Amino acid sequence: MGELKEIVNPLLKWYDGHARVLPWRENPAPYRVWVSEIMLQQTRVEAVKPYFERFMRELPAIRDLAEASEDRLLKLWEGLGYYNRVRNMQKAAEKLMEKFGGEMPPDFDEILKLPGIGSYTAGAIASIAFGIARPAVDGNVLRVLSRVQKSYEDIMKQSVRRKMEEQVQAVIPKDRAGDFNQSLIELGAIVCVPGGAPKCGECPLKGLCRAHKDGVELELPRKTPPKKRKIEDRTVLVLISENKAALKKRPSKGLLAGLYELPNLEGFYDSGAVLEYVKNLGLSPIRIQPLPEAKHIFSHIEWHMAGYMVKIEEPEQEPEGCFFVEKEQMEERFSIPAAFAAYTEYFKHRF
Ligand code: ADE
Ligand code: SF4
Repeated sequence: MGELKEIVNPLLKWYDGHARVLPWRENPAPYRVWVSEIMLQQTRVEAVKPYFERFMRELPAIRDLAEASEDRLLKLWEGLGYYNRVRNMQKAAEKLMEKFGGEMPPDFDEILKLPGIGSYTAGAIASIAFGIARPAVDGNVLRVLSRVQKSYEDIMKQSVRRKMEEQVQAVIPKDRAGDFNQSLIELGAIVCVPGGAPKCGECPLKGLCRAHKDGVELELPRKTPPKKRKIEDRTVLVLISENKAALKKRPSKGLLAGLYELPNLEGFYDSGAVLEYVKNLGLSPIRIQPLPEAKHIFSHIEWHMAGYMVKIEEPEQEPEGCFFVEKEQMEERFSIPAAFAAYTEYFKHRF
């Protein structure tokens, strides 16, 4: 089925009465739409709001983003995860400075060429900020369209996404492109929700929706299950000397690139092996205490962690790659990824 024309008017009418008031909707300047869409890719609206407001306050223009130091950028992103998103935004901002005088160009194809911007984000910026009639098909929209059309095609397939983009392109209203895209996104976010319970009773499309008509909305959308995550065992160390604790900077490539971390080892170590390791770093342990196990889930990897708090004598020399920071300054100055949250907690303890 390829006829989506009938959904346009009911959706726009519903959107006019039901759209949530959101900071990036109140003022849909291109830079604001861009930042909000990148933040919203992996994080819920309510969680994004305070990050968005702070980001806009601290880096109010594309130029500020292009010129921000890496540490500042990562600090502004801390807690949102997927840090490569903000690194790519900075690369894109640099390119916008070079090529477009620090402005987002009102041109879908140019926007799509920017680092970290795929067809969804380019369509969202083009339509919401500039009124350009291009589709913005994200997971919300794929779900709504699969259900409305009772399509059992696998929405993880690029070909299915492209087909849905073409279907939206064919009906997107030229005078309200941004609102139409947002109405689809919004319906998926607050009515045609994922998991167990689409609220078909309050849906403006209930009379048109083929999945609802046949009572199969819970079977859709169809997705191939994601690959199993790789499990890595790690031993995390809270190394304390007086009022300081040890940190390391992660390599500039790979998982959590460029962020700070607690010293940690691959595999599970017992207390004896940890003490051995600490001595080999040239440090003098005074006592050791095991900490509770913890788990952190990334998109493709899971860390299963054991932890130890180790009190050490004040080091004469910092071991290679490690440095000691006042515990109180830690939070303010360094971006330590959420994966370590179960252990950074112990900076607050007396030991
Ligand atoms: N999720 C993705 N984009 C969104 C937007 N513009 N508004 C609300 N939720 C969204
Ligand atoms: Fe989704 Fe139900 Fe609306 Fe169909 S009727 S679009 S399944 S909420």
